[in-house]
Amino acid sequence: MSGNRENHIFSHSLVRMSGREFASLSRFIYEQCGIRMPEVKKTMLEGRLQKRLRVLGMKSFAEYIDYLFDPAENSQELVLMIDHVTTNKTDFFREPDHFDYLRERVLPAWWEKYGMRRLMVWSAGCSTGQEPYTLAMVLQEFAASRSGFDFQILATDISTRVLEQARKAVYQEELLAPVPSLFKTKYLLRSKDRQSGLVRIVPQLRARVRFRRLNFLDSDFGLREPLDIIFCRNVIIYFDRSTQVRLLQRFYEHMRPGGHIFMGHSETLNGLEVPLVSVASTVYRKLQ
Ligand SMILES: C[S@@+](CC[C@H](N)C(=O)[O-])C[C@H]1O[C@@H](n2cnc3c(N)ncnc32)[C@H](O)[C@@H]1O
Repeated sequence: MSGNRENHIFSHSLVRMSGREFASLSRFIYEQCGIRMPEVKKTMLEGRLQKRLRVLGMKSFAEYIDYLFDPAENSQELVLMIDHVTTNKTDFFREPDHFDYLRERVLPAWWEKYGMRRLMVWSAGCSTGQEPYTLAMVLQEFAASRSGFDFQILATDISTRVLEQARKAVYQEELLAPVPSLFKTKYLLRSKDRQSGLVRIVPQLRARVRFRRLNFLDSDFGLREPLDIIFCRNVIIYFDRSTQVRLLQRFYEHMRPGGHIFMGHSETLNGLEVPLVSVASTVYRKLQ
């Protein structure tokens, strides 16, 4: 066997993670970003961090942990590690009844009450941008028939990797399958290179969305204006109960009275002590 081939095999062999190494990594991940890593996730974590070890030229998780926990390296590596451990699954028009409820119930009532004020929306845990751009399409449609309706979408995530993709707003065309055809015509640009199969969100919608990195465990979210609508879907399932309650309380503080929060379809707030009332399945409201 040639030396090159040996190197190739070596560089792709799996570095094993011991139970103790997993315990210290999972504790660290929980402390830094609230994500629970129970024992069943060990294989997943081991697999996902292989690439980091390879890039850093490290041959053991012990070496990686020393590096990660070193205060001099910590903040930079923490960001990169989080990029590897977060689950970022998302879709355009995911859980579509939320967007129906928004269009049919929330927006008309808001418009009647507040008219020309700017509607502030937050996609909290926005992943690669499909959720905030779906919101932008729905809100832009609403604006088209109401002169003076104005809106702004803040989209945040802990992962810099997904935010970079979201800002580019370029997607493989098959990911746009759930988008209604009329919206595709209005809100998507096709790549000049037809073979690439890439599309991009139009500048008019991109200008409505502001992306920013935010960790839900940060002591200050840096939000200056109260929010009318928050979408925080398929995020709190990764957190334990006390982190969920703390986060919901902070969302509550940042919401305008009468504002709405949309959670993922498996994320009921039943039993969590937060003063939000249920108005539809996994849609909650702060009382006026
Ligand atoms: C499964 S995705 C959900 C995306 C979108 N909301 C949806 O429902 O399609 C969850 C997102 O939450 C983000 N996330 C996880 N922990 C976070 C934290 N502590 N602070 C901010 N975002 C976090 C992840 O990076 C990921 O992009």
